[in-house]
Amino acid sequence: MIIAIDGPAAAGKGTLSRQIADAYGFHHLDTGLTYRATAKALLDAGLPLDDEAVAEKMAREVELAGLDRDILSSHAIGEAASKIAVMPAVRRALVEAQRAFSLREPGTVLDGRDIGTVVCPEAPVKLYVTASADVRANRRYEEILGKGQSADYAEIFADVRKRDERDMGRADSPLKPAEDAHLLDTSEMSIEAAFQAAKVIIDAALKKK
Ligand code: DC
Repeated sequence: MIIAIDGPAAAGKGTLSRQIADAYGFHHLDTGLTYRATAKALLDAGLPLDDEAVAEKMAREVELAGLDRDILSSHAIGEAASKIAVMPAVRRALVEAQRAFSLREPGTVLDGRDIGTVVCPEAPVKLYVTASADVRANRRYEEILGKGQSADYAEIFADVRKRDERDMGRADSPLKPAEDAHLLDTSEMSIEAAFQAAKVIIDAALKKK
């Protein structure tokens, strides 16, 4: 069983994916972390972010087992990740590893930007989780304030828009819903309501198997 979850940054797909994986006892892969880990390895080694052959080599060395969002969450790593994510050779290398992961038993949840369209087009469940740019920026803003740090809403909003443009506008595997994806707009939906909606869709697919 493969559950493919796509959507823009800060739409709540990470939280939702983890909840689904926990509830069904499936393995979870946040594929954004594979791009982030590749970018961090390049930054740590002092290597350029615009050399596709070098970046591909790093991508092939990424270990899926050791990916940690806490270590990879910084804004600088996110920016670097979105730069190397436009490179077809990097995408090919990471997609190979992601596909191998998706076949684990008893089932997997993969979240990212191109899971339903490119990585696992045959997935029986595809969710496209989205929310308005304003709502997503606000969630990020509250999250930072919640950690006791200071934040500038206008800056975060501009950042969300810039990330969207990069993810949706790139030539290779742009972010878009698969034709057979279920849309979940979480703008006015709690994470619990989104989980319940996802559960109905997943349970129906499991029954069909
Ligand atoms: O979701 P995130 O912020 O951790 O993703 C980091 C970058 O990687 C972001 O620019 C989008 C890109 N990405 C991608 O191109 N394809 C994926 N399947 C996942 C992430």
